[in-house]
Amino acid sequence: MQALSGKLCLVTGASAGIGAATARALIAAGAQVVLAARRIERVRALAAELGPRAQALELDVRDYDACSKLLGSQAFDLAVANAGMALGTDRIDQANPADWSEVIDTNIKGLLHTVRAVTPKMVERGRGDLVLLGSVAGRQVYPGGGVYCATKFAVRALYEGLRLDLAGKGLRIATVDPGMVHTEFSLVRMRGDQERAAKVYQGLTPLAPADVADAIVWIVTRPAHINVGELVLWPTDQASVSVVHRRETSRG
Ligand SMILES: NC(=O)c1ccc[n+]([C@@H]2O[C@H](COP(=O)([O-])OP(=O)(O)OC[C@H]3O[C@@H](n4cnc5c(N)ncnc54)[C@H](OP(=O)(O)O)[C@@H]3O)[C@@H](O)[C@H]2O)c1
Repeated sequence: MQALSGKLCLVTGASAGIGAATARALIAAGAQVVLAARRIERVRALAAELGPRAQALELDVRDYDACSKLLGSQAFDLAVANAGMALGTDRIDQANPADWSEVIDTNIKGLLHTVRAVTPKMVERGRGDLVLLGSVAGRQVYPGGGVYCATKFAVRALYEGLRLDLAGKGLRIATVDPGMVHTEFSLVRMRGDQERAAKVYQGLTPLAPADVADAIVWIVTRPAHINVGELVLWPTDQASVSVVHRRETSRG
């Protein structure tokens, strides 16, 4: 029997990057997985590839009514609140407040909507795993990252709040805080500018989405009495949010 056989799992933001890799890893561990994202055609294609234990769900986590309606009636054993993004690297005195709203609504309110929708059934059953995607940006701040970092500091506060609110209910709550992971994150942040996005990872070996997925599967397959709380994963080439070791490349 595989480690997660018979478990029903939710992954938000499963259309790309860490979420897609996590869905893949959970399926490989035997779970049934609901893959949620806005780009339904992407999650449908991935679910089709992953087979009958994978199910695609069109969901915008910013919409609480949709989260409540589509997630609230399902008895999830695990929810990975992964959907998240950054927009731009502008200074706070120069940035567009509309960008802040999108990032805050996705990373803080979207995560809360997801958690609010799935936890009542977990509390009712006296078990369940919540894994929140934080970041090392929830521990250190870098120039041009103030608002994104604030949302990830918020994820850490919510992780602590959930542990306190749900103490004694049988749930396990974890936050996974990666450093640089090579996903579409920078492409989204740089609004589709491939060259700027590629520069973020130039000359270093970032984490792969599968590395983070592997850590998530490890967390949720510990014996029931162990709650891995905060897991920080750095690429070996990254010493802090702003100190990164880059090797010389032919492109300089
Ligand atoms: N990459 C990194 O270096 C890094 C480091 C630390 C933490 N993280 C965190 O890891 C998480 C995943 O990011 P990633 O690196 O895998 O980026 P990614 O490749 O851009 O994937 C982001 C995912 O979030 C989904 N998403 C965005 N807004 C959404 C919304 N309103 N509703 C539902 N889904 C939404 C996207 O799907 P749709 O666009 O299809 O909705 C996509 O599947 C984020 O929380 C990010 O902050 C990333």
